[in-house]
Amino acid sequence: MTPDEKYLNRPKRQAMLPFCPPDIGPEEIDEVVDSLRSGWITTGPKVAKFEQELAAYVGAKHAMMLNSATSGLFLCLKALGIGPGDEVITTPYTFAASVNVILHAGARPVLADVRKDDFNIDPELIARAITPKTRAVIPVHYAGRSCDMDAIGALAKKHNLTVIEDAAHAIGTEYRGKKTGSISRFTVFSFHAVKNVTTGEGGAVSTDDTAMAEKIKVMSLHGMNKDAWKRYAPGGKVQYDIVYPGYKFNMTDLQAGLGIHQLRKIEQTLEKRRAIAARYRAGLEDIPGLTLPGEDPQGRNCWHLYPLLLDLENLSIDRNQVIELLKQENVSSNVHYTPVHLFSYAKEFLGYKPGDFPNAEWLGERELTLPFYNRLSDDDIDDVIAAVRKVMTTNRTAH
Ligand SMILES: Cc1ncc(COP(=O)(O)O)c(C=O)c1O
Repeated sequence: MTPDEKYLNRPKRQAMLPFCPPDIGPEEIDEVVDSLRSGWITTGPKVAKFEQELAAYVGAKHAMMLNSATSGLFLCLKALGIGPGDEVITTPYTFAASVNVILHAGARPVLADVRKDDFNIDPELIARAITPKTRAVIPVHYAGRSCDMDAIGALAKKHNLTVIEDAAHAIGTEYRGKKTGSISRFTVFSFHAVKNVTTGEGGAVSTDDTAMAEKIKVMSLHGMNKDAWKRYAPGGKVQYDIVYPGYKFNMTDLQAGLGIHQLRKIEQTLEKRRAIAARYRAGLEDIPGLTLPGEDPQGRNCWHLYPLLLDLENLSIDRNQVIELLKQENVSSNVHYTPVHLFSYAKEFLGYKPGDFPNAEWLGERELTLPFYNRLSDDDIDDVIAAVRKVMTTNRTAH
């Protein structure tokens, strides 16, 4: 039987396949209930434990838990004293958070285009974007595949820049034998609902820099020099000082209760995701007009997303029409990303326009993200393969 015969005769799936529901087990639920019963539901011992376990997992001295990765990226910039007059380089091919935090800090986001093969920022284009005002670089590890950190690290060293890795997609990613989180001065993770490790909403910064770790911790909770849990602990003092006009970015014990167990299962999660990626590849690779994501020859992809590239030149419909047709087959899909400089705010706030980043735009027109989550069954995966195959086969242009 050919793959077309196998999949095209498959009946349409009955219920809509969701894009990415979280994988919450009984351990997470019991831990959250334990917090609810304990009388301590805000930042406390479970946050401290999650911080220790994350630092140990990524191989960093410190991890600071926060309410989001956005807060983490912002606090790294603030802790470095980056503000008006400074420039920070990042990619247009990301979620807007990576760029917006630079604006929040009062600095200027300078964008450098990506490579078409791995969607990641091109170090040669970073080099061309560096000016005397550049203070930092925020590389984004798209879909869980690491950026070229040796090249980026070398540029940072040469020009005295700080690297703040946006690892929102990249918990469990490795680059040349090192875990993401242990490579640059700062790494920021997201635990948003769709991430490989989730706390509903949440984020963390990892670093080996003890002074910066302390600063970020203090800045994350109003600039208080002791958090509330320590003040109410036996032997703790009720008095505190405010040493900085800080923010309200702390994580709660309810969130940390989820995160602790999610993190303990991370290696099994990555194995499951690698197996899903392999099944997708086996079922999709003979379809003309598709480029599939791959392993990172330099490291380990943590398989946060499964992004396809559609060969639009040989299709009679565009990517958004493909999404609609997949929906008719009861398969949800998504787009990662519309390049940031194409949004309506870009002209006023970023000073960029369509045409400025051709590779990001080329990818942004063609990218389609398939459903990808731990509990996806072999049957679900085959339904997706059948739906993609049907849409691609029926809408291919004749040669
Ligand atoms: C690349 C990237 N950076 C930053 C963020 C922001 O993460 P958070 O929602 O935790 O603030 C996201 C969120 O999806 C992201 O995908």
